[in-house]
Amino acid sequence: MSRALNVPGIAYGGDYNPEQWPEEVWAEDMRLMAEAGVTMVSVNIFSWALLEPSEGTYDFSRLDRILDLLHAHGIAADLATPTAAPPAWFFVAHPDALPVDKDGRRLSYGSRQTFCPSSPAYREAALRITGELARRYADHPAVVMWHVHNEYGCHNAECYCDTSAAAFRDWLQDRYASLDALNHAWGTTFWSQWYYDWDQILPPRATGAVPNPTHRLDWRRFCSDALLSLYEAERDVLREAAPDTPATTNFMVNFSFDALDYWRWAPELDIVSNDHYLQSTDTASEIDIALSGDLVRSLAGGPWLLMEHSTGAVNWQPVNRAKTAGQLRRNALSHVARGADGIAYFQWRAAKAGAEQWHSAMLPHAGTDSQIWRDVVRLGADLRALAEVRGAVGTAEVAIVWDWNARWALELPSQPSAELRFLDLVRSWYEPLWRAGVAVDFVRPDADLSSYRLVLAPSLYLIDDEGAANLTGFAERGGTLGVGFHSGMVDANCHVRLGGYPGAFREALGVHTDELFPLLPDERVRLSDGGTGTLWSERVRLEGAQAVTSYQDGPLAGVPAITRNAHGSGTAWYLATHPDPATLAALLDRIRTEAGVQTVREAPEGVEVARRRGPDADYLFLINHTDRDAHIPVSPEATELLSGKPATGSVTVPAGEVAVVREPLRG
Ligand code: GLA
Repeated sequence: MSRALNVPGIAYGGDYNPEQWPEEVWAEDMRLMAEAGVTMVSVNIFSWALLEPSEGTYDFSRLDRILDLLHAHGIAADLATPTAAPPAWFFVAHPDALPVDKDGRRLSYGSRQTFCPSSPAYREAALRITGELARRYADHPAVVMWHVHNEYGCHNAECYCDTSAAAFRDWLQDRYASLDALNHAWGTTFWSQWYYDWDQILPPRATGAVPNPTHRLDWRRFCSDALLSLYEAERDVLREAAPDTPATTNFMVNFSFDALDYWRWAPELDIVSNDHYLQSTDTASEIDIALSGDLVRSLAGGPWLLMEHSTGAVNWQPVNRAKTAGQLRRNALSHVARGADGIAYFQWRAAKAGAEQWHSAMLPHAGTDSQIWRDVVRLGADLRALAEVRGAVGTAEVAIVWDWNARWALELPSQPSAELRFLDLVRSWYEPLWRAGVAVDFVRPDADLSSYRLVLAPSLYLIDDEGAANLTGFAERGGTLGVGFHSGMVDANCHVRLGGYPGAFREALGVHTDELFPLLPDERVRLSDGGTGTLWSERVRLEGAQAVTSYQDGPLAGVPAITRNAHGSGTAWYLATHPDPATLAALLDRIRTEAGVQTVREAPEGVEVARRRGPDADYLFLINHTDRDAHIPVSPEATELLSGKPATGSVTVPAGEVAVVREPLRG
């Protein structure tokens, strides 16, 4: 966090929407928040229609009462600008501010976030209500943070209307300056796509055949930037009124959301916060939490806030599963283990009406006589016991390269295989490291890598020259680099790097591929080490590297599948196929052992291990996701913080439970 949150210890709370309830209920809210140990709530997120009943007329009386009530009860407010849900009157006055989808269909209001990100009328109205709010509450003693908008891009990341088209052209003019440069970058000599006038350029609306890949990629960059510019505009209005109050907006570093390039966003936030929800179909969702937490911590460059997750089921999946016994606690503390200095839920009180009436909350429909409420109260006590962890950060010897440009480009149409998913590839490499208890940071391709022993690039289809030089230079200077197939293939404009694959990494990896042989969805090739490869194979020729494993069958029998190359004073590994999980785990184990990477602590399979390092102590988080008790060696001078008991030499973490151990700093 680049700015400190003025709430003690680990903040605890959730979205609080008292405007949805009669005021008599509020007193009970305050009493129960005290019982649960709530210290901060996010308010006003979707209240625009109540604050501004008609254009330019305001009624802040209810919000005044809410903020005063919170302050009187010692609860801090993360005060939201309500701009994620413009009122009906706004759309009646400005129907052209409604977004248009790819097929040219204009959407209607009656939900939330149905506005065009490039609409001048929306921007003006959003900044007006933000200014009113900022000036009114700049000095309110309850307000500790601005919550700008809500989950930018969740429902309206792409709008294809004419206003967006004009904004896209402006963005392109800034990027390319001349049409000639754009035509070359987009390769528009292909299929007669050459543009002679800026006005000829449209958003990549629905077409009969495949769109131009660079057009589509620039569109995704533009869409992320268009929303970022809205965030910055609101933040600047808030800053002007209250320069000392930090601003955040809740990211969605989550399983499927990929619309925003958060590397560009994160430096613009005073405090990075994230929302994370589980997928009911994910049988190892604890790994998704860890991955997302490590990525958010890396974006933040330190501690961050979990702004939303759920106590139980959500309401937006085909089947919404409740959490299992102890899972609420494990999930929340797993986020803390990965650097969260605040834990919050959507939402405080389960809604009776409206689109989210079947979403879980801290206070369920059943009231306090419920398992969720008991778990919520217990978690409040846990977080109080962890107050001293605040501000401590993780340290890692391994970095995984994560890049939204590479993600977008990989998933464009007309790839050699439509089976490749960036997140799945990254997760498949992350998972064995998680299982082994290895700490991981995520980095952008041009990051300073000097503090890492091992840098892994599971999927880096697109890489610019600077990023490629940074990664190969890391190996040259003695680091260990691991690269996954179909990486280094195209440059920042999505142009193929010629002369053999994998383009940008060919020399460092000491290999040369002349043809790609992607595999069918259920096709497997046998590997010489006894494993199998899926998804991908390619005709690799060694140019300095050694073959570690080769294909045993199929059209490439005898061709290297996994290679290792001495590059400069370091080592560069290439995985030209996607090994089965056990083979990949064994391989990554070998790679990291050779690179000298330590685990955080040896622990039985299924016991998650993570460490936060404070100025005076280490905090070892042990999260037992199994149904067996686990015994973990700890320092003889350790204390288990959740129980407050000394843990001399070993700690037992019962099945499904969590321990957090304070240990003296180790080198
Ligand atoms: C998102 C939103 C919340 C709520 C939850 C439900 O995270 O920010 O307002 O809709 O989803 O899971």
